[in-house]
Amino acid sequence: MTLESVMRLAIEQAEQVKGSTYPNPPVGAVILDRDGQIAGVGGTQPVGGPHAEVVALQAAGDRAKGGTAVVTLEPCNHHGRTPPCVDALLASGVSNVTYAVSDPNPAAAGGAQRLADAGVTVSGGLVADEVEKGPLREWLHKQRTGSPHVTWKFATSVDGRSAAADGSSQWITSEAARADVHRKRAAADAIVVGTGTVFVDDPTLTARRADGTLTDHQPLRVVVGMREVSLDAKVLNDDSHTMLIRTHDPHEVMRSLGDRTDVFLEGGPTLAGAFLRAGVVNRIVAYVAPILLGGPITAVDDIGVLSMVHAQRWRFDGITAIGPDVRLSLVPN
Ligand SMILES: NC(=O)c1ccc[n+]([C@@H]2O[C@H](COP(=O)([O-])OP(=O)(O)OC[C@H]3O[C@@H](n4cnc5c(N)ncnc54)[C@H](OP(=O)(O)O)[C@@H]3O)[C@@H](O)[C@H]2O)c1
Repeated sequence: MTLESVMRLAIEQAEQVKGSTYPNPPVGAVILDRDGQIAGVGGTQPVGGPHAEVVALQAAGDRAKGGTAVVTLEPCNHHGRTPPCVDALLASGVSNVTYAVSDPNPAAAGGAQRLADAGVTVSGGLVADEVEKGPLREWLHKQRTGSPHVTWKFATSVDGRSAAADGSSQWITSEAARADVHRKRAAADAIVVGTGTVFVDDPTLTARRADGTLTDHQPLRVVVGMREVSLDAKVLNDDSHTMLIRTHDPHEVMRSLGDRTDVFLEGGPTLAGAFLRAGVVNRIVAYVAPILLGGPITAVDDIGVLSMVHAQRWRFDGITAIGPDVRLSLVPN
């Protein structure tokens, strides 16, 4: 087994805990024994619980001695709610530590240096690109910019319509695509829509499993707009918390969500247009169905582009078939 494939196993662990670790980063770790066999795997536990390295070390027990720790993020070197992971790694007797991404948080950084100073062989950067684009994307964005990472998610017909002429949009995409959306919601901190979507679709905006039950982690539901939301609206039910924000300014929405990391924008064309115009969208995820709707309800309203020279340029970073639909992922070019 190569170290790259072990790191991908650590990435899988990180993906599994994504959404449940807020405000900590979703990290994955694998411990190999001295013969290179997997002795333990783990992901970051909910806040206050052990970090990924500690979970994997506990699973490995004595087999960690003389072995290798493979971690998606540089092990932390600070006392937060739990002791530094570096202490646990040193106590375990591992000889090697390989991580993907250096910790950009000055308070937590320095873990690699402390391990090296203690005689552990340390290397960083392994499969870093996949970790940066994958499980740590939103957290790294927050660390670097101070703002939450915003993903605009929408379902569209192949001719770019987000609803039929009567406003109905349930359902444009297949069950398989919708199940994928629920997995992504379960990993998000907040889902944002405008009052228009609440009035037309009356969505619950929860993350649900295939059998309809709620997933363990529910993102905060956020409704943006001046109009009153009826107390009967499903978005106000007890399944999760809901924040109503009386504004039309996307920057004000961002300030209200300043303590969040991973924000999912699921509004209709009006709110999507406002966010795109304001330049606060960091990724687009489009579920494209092989249907035609025609008519006036486009996926996004005016974004201030009057001529091709002013087109917003994005780049595909993922194209995935999901059932009969296609999921397109785009990042700014
Ligand atoms: N296919 C999809 O993925 C998808 C997703 C969501 C919705 N939809 C469809 O979209 C349609 C609803 O579209 P919509 O555009 O009304 O929904 P929306 O964008 O979710 O909500 C629009 C409302 O947001 C508020 N708002 C917030 N910021 C604004 C700004 N900067 N400028 C103007 N208004 C702002 C306004 O509410 P106030 O008037 O209260 O101030 C506005 O009426 C429905 O047919 C729904 O089925 C489709």
